[in-house]
Amino acid sequence: MKRLAVLISGRGSNLGALLDAGLPAQFVTVLSNDPAAAGLDVARARGIPAQALDHRAFSSREAFDRALTDALQAHAPDLVILAGFMRVLTAVFLEAFAGRLINIHPSLLPAFPGLHTHRRALDAGVKLHGCTVHYVTPELDGGPIIAQAAVPVLPDDDERTLATRVLAQEHRLFAQVVRWILEDHVTLEDGRARVLAPVHFPPPACYPEFP
Ligand code: GRF
Repeated sequence: MKRLAVLISGRGSNLGALLDAGLPAQFVTVLSNDPAAAGLDVARARGIPAQALDHRAFSSREAFDRALTDALQAHAPDLVILAGFMRVLTAVFLEAFAGRLINIHPSLLPAFPGLHTHRRALDAGVKLHGCTVHYVTPELDGGPIIAQAAVPVLPDDDERTLATRVLAQEHRLFAQVVRWILEDHVTLEDGRARVLAPVHFPPPACYPEFP
């Protein structure tokens, strides 16, 4: 069974979705940079070992990343999953887990990398928004895209309603992508990720609809 490690910083709803998805894998550790992260309890409630490594206890980003790398390597993960992990990672970490490190981002990348994606999508007036699962590289939110899910931006949306609509898709998409990786359905070559799964191509969607 493949060994999964999950890094979080906050409430852990994506973590919960992954833990409840019945994936054919072993969750070997959940690690948070914030000891107060509610997601640690999401893991513990399901009997998954969870630990905190407080970044404030380290003198530099590199020192924290070195400790984080060591803490994870002790669990020999096959895949490291960033599920709402809010720290920018440096080379020491990225090199240790290159090709087996994925992240979920709440926008249709390459649109809106970084923070406050829902507010920026509303400000930009985009009509479709969504989420992206991608491999992590040194470029912030810029690594090879594995899969995306889109939702409409409705006329009366505010940040909260839009975030809720996207989050429901995050939970579906993340578990599906991890399943594909576990089943060896994802390749990474020349900086491009491909999913080798049966393609179901529903009718193209647009919003607003046109005849
Ligand atoms: C999610 O929207 C994720 O895409 C972003 O941070 C949020 C984490 O939410 N990176 P949760 O902790 O999984 O509930």
